[in-house]
Amino acid sequence: MRAVTLDYHDRRLYKREMPEPAIAKSSQVLFRILEAGVCGTDRELANFRLGSPPEGESQLILGHEALGQVIATGDAVSTIKAGDLVVPMVRRACAPACISCARNRRDLCVTGNYRERGIVGAHGYFAEFAVDDEADLVPIPAALTEFGVLVEPLSVVEKAVGLAFRLHEPGPRSAVILGAGAIGILAALALQLRGLHVTVHSRESENSPRAALIARAGIPYTTAMPEKADIVIEATGSPSAALHGLNLLAQLGVMVVLGASVAEGRVSFTDLVVHNQVIAGSVNASPESFAWAVQDLGRFHAPILRGMIRRVGFDDFEQSILGPPDTSPKVVHCL
Ligand code: BGC
Repeated sequence: MRAVTLDYHDRRLYKREMPEPAIAKSSQVLFRILEAGVCGTDRELANFRLGSPPEGESQLILGHEALGQVIATGDAVSTIKAGDLVVPMVRRACAPACISCARNRRDLCVTGNYRERGIVGAHGYFAEFAVDDEADLVPIPAALTEFGVLVEPLSVVEKAVGLAFRLHEPGPRSAVILGAGAIGILAALALQLRGLHVTVHSRESENSPRAALIARAGIPYTTAMPEKADIVIEATGSPSAALHGLNLLAQLGVMVVLGASVAEGRVSFTDLVVHNQVIAGSVNASPESFAWAVQDLGRFHAPILRGMIRRVGFDDFEQSILGPPDTSPKVVHCL
């Protein structure tokens, strides 16, 4: 089958023929990948800044944001049948399972020995076919065919939003989202849906297509310093933006960091202490966050979701993964 792979020997990105996966256990499902989305993680992977191929192999099939259609199921599969749409969860448990993996919260794995399909130690979904356990697949209603590929990135957002709500003592009323990429926009939509007053703050011009899309969703967009908010979600990948975000926290505020790496700068722990503020990090998503993602996706306005996605062909992977960042928040490959 055709697949987009990273070669860890010659450190390059290729379209390759890879062996077709087959059902080997009665709990497994074979599905055709209909669409694969590209995000910052894929771009980092292609720069060999993170990730690894499966043990004993030198190729990694990329792709962790996918929508598939079931072709065949093992005898023990009971909730999924041929023709159904599915989105795979990304992370697989460490072995022996740690305290989190053992309770199906691999997103909270404490050993770091987890695998992530298309990222760490396991092939991904930028290929024609894949096999997964029924338990690792999220069924997608047919009505969400057009947007199902957004379930995985939205699941990451849902985990962060749930965390922020749990950590904000009286319950949040306002939020600032840092970043106008797919994660930032999805976070803004999820918080708007929950009745918060949301502002998106980013660097791109207020006339940019992303800013226009956010405004169309009824969400204020600003390049200027926004007002302080109960929740700040960092969705930029920029350490300086994350540091800046601390200044945007209201009293009792909660900041969730999703993408920033190592920042150098001044942090006032005094402010955190005196104002009872919280900084939290969040990665990946729980099965519950995937369920929330499916639910919310059905509630967001279709024209906004449509405006987030630019669909391209299989062969456009060099452009989407190695080229300059697209103006569209989410590039999706139709396989
Ligand atoms: C994925 C997550 C994953 C994280 C770290 C993100 O792009 O959406 O599922 O855990 O990268 O590898």
